[in-house]
Amino acid sequence: MTDTQLQQFELQQSFDATIAAEARIEPRDWMPEGYRKTLIRQIAQHAHSEIIGMQPEGNWLTRAPSLRRKAILMAKVQDEAGHGLYLYSAAETLGADRADLTDKLISGRQKYSSIFNYPTLTYADVGTIGWLVDGAAICNQVPLCRSSFGPYARAMIRVCKEESFHQRQGYELLTTMMGGTDEQRAMVQESVDRFWWPALMMFGPPDDRSPNSEQSMAWGIKRHSNDELRQKFVDMSVPQAEALGVSFPDPDLAWNAERGHYDFGEPDWSEFTEVVKGNGAMNVERIAVRRAAHEDGAWVRDAATAFAAREQENHR
Ligand SMILES: [Fe+2]
Ligand SMILES: [Fe+2]
Repeated sequence: MTDTQLQQFELQQSFDATIAAEARIEPRDWMPEGYRKTLIRQIAQHAHSEIIGMQPEGNWLTRAPSLRRKAILMAKVQDEAGHGLYLYSAAETLGADRADLTDKLISGRQKYSSIFNYPTLTYADVGTIGWLVDGAAICNQVPLCRSSFGPYARAMIRVCKEESFHQRQGYELLTTMMGGTDEQRAMVQESVDRFWWPALMMFGPPDDRSPNSEQSMAWGIKRHSNDELRQKFVDMSVPQAEALGVSFPDPDLAWNAERGHYDFGEPDWSEFTEVVKGNGAMNVERIAVRRAAHEDGAWVRDAATAFAAREQENHR
């Protein structure tokens, strides 16, 4: 072994020991290139999802039914912007460049969650998104609070606290509507019918079709498989739907006493593939809006850069 090989071997050993001890990898630590790349891709996709996720609900800000609902929705959409910012910062600690990540998003080279390519057609969708979409996000993200990469795990702790408020505001909105008129109840059911399957797809493809999962689990980046998390979400959501008085559009949904879990049908994975490929109802608009916002913000970035340069000059 040459000196460099020996050094490499020791670094890898110390990384493996840190992962095995369930301790945290920090930005200053040596890490395998694959680990760094996987994390940058995952954190960037997550950040993009938070930022793009502002659009479906932002669509209803000017048409909220009351001042109270408007204030709640505005706070929620702002929280999502904050989540995006923490996550871009976490990606930067791995050496990623934020401008480059944004460029990859608006040129379609990096993805965001498929769920945000569905339209929001009624105000009930604000409630359903809070309940089911933020609910699915919580199932996905709570285990990430134990992710092996320190900055990501710490960002997730705050994000999850805020997500649980998002879920509650959604459920509270739906509860209020269910106590209203027949028309409002029908509006809630129609919204749940549209969002149930896309929410299940948020956990990603089935385990046997999720090639990168195994390595991510070994690295402690991911803690549970897609199918485990999906099952957990179904088990959690069914009693909530019963309490609310809505049903899910799945004839196969039934309690299985033997397994101690709900059985449920198979999502339409061909629809998922199409949406991920860019052929969902809203893909083109979501990216166009994000691109326009980025271009409109160019003067702000220029001004901030010029200001920072002058400050540095002044403090020399
Ligand atoms: Fe969020
Ligand atoms: Fe949220």
